[in-house]
Amino acid sequence: MTNADFEKIVDTSDEWIVSRTGIKERRIAPDGMAVSDMAVEACKNALEASGLKNEDIDLLILGTVTPDYKLPSTACVVQEKMDLPNATAFDIVAACTGFINGLSVASSLLETGAYKNALVVGAEKLSTIVNYKDRNTCVLFGDGAGAAVLTASDDGSGVLGTFLKSNGNLRELLWIKDGGSAHPYADGYEFEGDDKVMMSGGDIFKVAVKQMCNAAVKIIEDAGLTSEDISLVIPHQANIRIIEAIAKRLKMPMEKVFVNIEKYGNTSAASVPIAMDEAYRTGKIKKGDHVIMVAFGGGLIWGSALIKW
Ligand code: ACO
Repeated sequence: MTNADFEKIVDTSDEWIVSRTGIKERRIAPDGMAVSDMAVEACKNALEASGLKNEDIDLLILGTVTPDYKLPSTACVVQEKMDLPNATAFDIVAACTGFINGLSVASSLLETGAYKNALVVGAEKLSTIVNYKDRNTCVLFGDGAGAAVLTASDDGSGVLGTFLKSNGNLRELLWIKDGGSAHPYADGYEFEGDDKVMMSGGDIFKVAVKQMCNAAVKIIEDAGLTSEDISLVIPHQANIRIIEAIAKRLKMPMEKVFVNIEKYGNTSAASVPIAMDEAYRTGKIKKGDHVIMVAFGGGLIWGSALIKW
């Protein structure tokens, strides 16, 4: 869906969207394609790249705010569709940091020795929760999925550290009010927009810049490294101005910051793994590189991860 498509449905312009966000297009999944279907495609690609077999996966963690069903978890649906007989599967609800939270939980469980090979997925069909009458939000979001395989190793590579934070006091800056147990749909419920994403964009922007910068700096400093040791930053793709602010704070040139927001918009939990996959497949990440990921989303919640590839 291009900016020109949005010019036909709300009062907006390509110039406004590109200058304020950096977004030119987003992918919208067709009717009948669930989040699990996109997740399965990403999982198949990740598994193939890892060289492992389906039976080798003993942990499946999926980040999403747009699950197939309220019950069961989308991870369990993916387990069935992927045929992962030996996996323990569950979802994480951490909005745009869902993949980083998933990485953190998966790597911690691998470190205990209880699990050996994990699939970590971020997948969203945000088009099902976006209000296409609200120009403040509808132009920002897209659908997609990304996945990674984590394997226990003792060669010094892998997830070197993660940093996770949240502030529930600010939850109403980005939320869907209706449809959960706090405000369930009653008989005769009429759609008024409260069962779709509502966002205070300007307030979120300020917190996002501050906390994503802090999270990026902290994960590097905690490891005893400096920005110069980092080969690539993979930020959540929410707004090009937020991404540029992170680069400036880290004193890193934009060539070392991965950006694909122009093609996908904000895909929430899928954003970081899609960017990671594109960076890897286009040769921007090599063995031994230090890579950081940093994300921010509804909760409010934010976090970062440092990986030695
Ligand atoms: N087209 C044209 N005008 C628009 C549009 C649009 N699509 N959307 C909003 N506007 C208008 C507003 O109505 C407002 O008009 P007004 O001043 O007459 O009321 C004006 O533009 C606001 O303009 P700015 O203040 O310049 O907007 P800003 O610079 O804050 O940019 C944006 C808005 C892009 C939403 C920005 O605040 C942002 O990116 N915030 C962060 C959002 C975010 O990252 N959220 C997701 C977190 S991730 C997750 O959990 C899913």
